[in-house]
Amino acid sequence: MPDRSVTATTLRTHTCGELRLSHAGQSVALSGWVQTTRDFGKFIFIDLRDRHGITQVAIRQDTQPELYELARKLGREFVLQVQGAVRERENKNPKNPTGDIEIVPTALELLSRAEVPPFLIEDETDGQEELRLQYRYLDIRRPLMAERLVLRSKVVKAMRRYLDTQGFLEIETPVLIKATPEGARDFLVPSRLQPGNFYALPQSPQILKQLLMVAGMDRYYQICKCFRDEDFRGDRQPEFTQLDCEMSFVEQEDILRNFDAMVRSVFREVGGIELPQLPRISYQECMEKYGSDKPDLRFGLPICDLNEAVQGTGFAVFDQALETGGLVAGICAIGLAGWSRKQTDALIEYVKQPHLGLKGLVTLRVEADGSYKSSADKFLDADRLKEIARACDAQPGDLVLIAAADKAACRRALGALRKHVADTAGLYDPKAWSVFYVIDFPLFERDAETGQLMAVHHPFVMPHAEDWAAYQAGQIPPENIRALCYDMVMNGNEIMSGSVRIHREDIQNRIFQLLGLSAEEIEQKFGFLLKAFRYGAPPHAGCAFGLDRWVMLMAGAESIREVMAFPKNSAGRDLMLDAPAPVDAAQLRELAIGVTL
Ligand code: AMO
Repeated sequence: MPDRSVTATTLRTHTCGELRLSHAGQSVALSGWVQTTRDFGKFIFIDLRDRHGITQVAIRQDTQPELYELARKLGREFVLQVQGAVRERENKNPKNPTGDIEIVPTALELLSRAEVPPFLIEDETDGQEELRLQYRYLDIRRPLMAERLVLRSKVVKAMRRYLDTQGFLEIETPVLIKATPEGARDFLVPSRLQPGNFYALPQSPQILKQLLMVAGMDRYYQICKCFRDEDFRGDRQPEFTQLDCEMSFVEQEDILRNFDAMVRSVFREVGGIELPQLPRISYQECMEKYGSDKPDLRFGLPICDLNEAVQGTGFAVFDQALETGGLVAGICAIGLAGWSRKQTDALIEYVKQPHLGLKGLVTLRVEADGSYKSSADKFLDADRLKEIARACDAQPGDLVLIAAADKAACRRALGALRKHVADTAGLYDPKAWSVFYVIDFPLFERDAETGQLMAVHHPFVMPHAEDWAAYQAGQIPPENIRALCYDMVMNGNEIMSGSVRIHREDIQNRIFQLLGLSAEEIEQKFGFLLKAFRYGAPPHAGCAFGLDRWVMLMAGAESIREVMAFPKNSAGRDLMLDAPAPVDAAQLRELAIGVTL
């Protein structure tokens, strides 16, 4: 409960969520918005709302005729100050924390009138998302939205509190900078003073925080805005917030330990949730067992390699995958042998979607009596089915879903399918938490079209020392170099990413070359960083958390838009401000910009 001395102002002694039976008899002043008025002839009840709650105001026609007349004219969302006495209510409302009392007013002052709002300002609103975004200031009056912003503020405070105890400094970095490569397009800002030149908004403060390490600011953090011009999804916005951190004189282990403790401390403080120490899973294990580098591990359903179990079946679908170096693999959907043909057909349609691209699935049911039934009965005899069931640890009552394709496609599709099956069948507790680290990512991947090496994260990630040595000795190709790089995954969402950084100019230069940058490009894009490294760079490492995603998960919200005060819509527009918008010709002339459409 807020301290009265903190919330009291000239226009209110308490908030609308604060008064209890213990306040009965006190004279108070409340200010807020009219949620509803209920006119019973002899009485009018006003529900007065602010972000803290709702308090009932009761007015009698016979004893308070003037106030009664004023109350009859109030509309929804009028802003009102009420002065009066707190009284115990006859009809208590146990659902409302202030439901034991009501205010008997001595004065009502209308502070603002309001037009009829375009949607219901209640948790169950009739407003569609676009309308809510257009009138976001009304949307945030809904208790659900207000609570989400309160939660966000609490998470940020808990982060700061932990980092402050660990000796981190909060340092701001500029927003008008030069391109920082995080794999997205830059938002550009034209310079008026240097026509034809552009600032880039930071995709992250990555380079700046590394320069702060060179500057000796050995423990840095910042809650900062990042800007990325990329396609939007539920978990992405062009402008989002990171908790960005960096430490000097550390190794990967120091970062993993420190931020494990921070995450658990935030969960404890904000949600009263005790998380166990965060497990660590290698990228390779993630991909092989769960078909994703951010699997949801609130449930099992691991992918089982069936290549051995299906050798020599003569079943073309399997044989072809085996002959071309592909994979036959399955997931064991525990207890789903009773699913109807219609239900399994829907799963087949699911994996046939263009982004998953499988041709189909083979099903294998282990019946209650231990017998087997498969959609590929014609090609797979009972012994073979038993062998497959054994490889997947399938028990009576289970349904095995089998895919055959090239390795990457097979894992990707089964990874998506395991989540889909778990969601459809309700195989996990949606309130449970699964938070863990993924470590040992590859340093590079190859562009499918050009064959060019690309950084899996960004080009400043330190390779594993032994892999780098092996690569330099010509023993492994660059794709096999593991990175000192780590992600944190929360309920199937990547909420943090980080790495040990390269602090040596020779390694950094070599990586840039492997990424296909010419000496001129390196100098032009990153010359300032390499120069800084020449002046004594400490070993350093760090990470950044996606604040919006973390709060979205803690709030149980569907999209990060739901935990941002003023987000953009899925087309990147701010519907409230109506941005982006054209600018006038004079402004463009001043910036030496011509628009060609
Ligand atoms: P990365 O690009 O992985 O790493 O970003 C870190 C975290 O930020 C969140 N995130 C996003 N959230 C909302 N909308 C987006 N468009 C978006 N993009 C990323 C994710 C992600 O895990 N500089 C490095 C970090 C480092 O190495 O220290 C970086 O920015 O939760």
